[in-house]
Amino acid sequence: MRVVLLGAPASGKGTQGQLLSERHGIPKISTGDMLRAAKAAGTPMGLEAARFMNEGKLVPDEVVIGLVAERLEAADCAPGFILDGFPRTVPQAEALDALLASKGMPLSVVVQLDVPRELLLERATLRRTDVRTGQIYHLKYNPPPPDAQLEHRADDREETVNKRLVEYDAMTAALLPYYHERSLLRRVDGVGTMQEITERLGQALGT
Ligand code: AP5
Repeated sequence: MRVVLLGAPASGKGTQGQLLSERHGIPKISTGDMLRAAKAAGTPMGLEAARFMNEGKLVPDEVVIGLVAERLEAADCAPGFILDGFPRTVPQAEALDALLASKGMPLSVVVQLDVPRELLLERATLRRTDVRTGQIYHLKYNPPPPDAQLEHRADDREETVNKRLVEYDAMTAALLPYYHERSLLRRVDGVGTMQEITERLGQALGT
């Protein structure tokens, strides 16, 4: 199973990607997580990427394409993978197609999580992540345990979330016709409980 999860910031890609990864025993590959790890490690690439992320802008295509190309070489990707947050532009999608074609492993399906704008802001600003486990929580909908070591992402402040939403409309929404034309796109209603959305995703993936 080779899946791309598409959706606006805070639409639930990371949450559902993690559940799918556990259910199917295949890795979830999040470019956002990889970039945040590089930033935390203080690598030159991570620090450069942080300048874009803190502004709510996309990191240049060549940086993220390089990260994903390297990650897909790992042995754990052979049985399948879930891409969360990549591709985000048409050039990224074209690079991914070329990479997977060279390996003879085309995408199985691309799922778009549809969530209205007014919910996205609440989901993002009240999100918290456990720095030790990477587990994603929400102060209202999925409260963390008392011993969690919580982090509030730098780009989850309201002003930056609004910029990320503009960037999504400008760049990433173009991927919907791209994948629709290739008969890969499935749309899933992303409003409901996490369990309800997991069930809908299972139907869309035919699992
Ligand atoms: P990235 O980390 O990928 O951010 P994003 O796409 O904006 O997505 P999020 O992580 O914000 O949200 P999500 O959809 O995973 O939602 P989640 O499951 O956490 O990217 C960050 C930045 O890195 C980008 O802005 C860019 O700068 C850069 N970047 C990354 N990839 C790039 C690329 N390919 N090209 C260029 N630049 C790139 O859920 C959100 C919250 O809602 C959580 O609190 C969760 O608990 C809660 N929640 C989830 N589901 C539900 C539900 N059903 N009901 C109620 N609450 C829910």
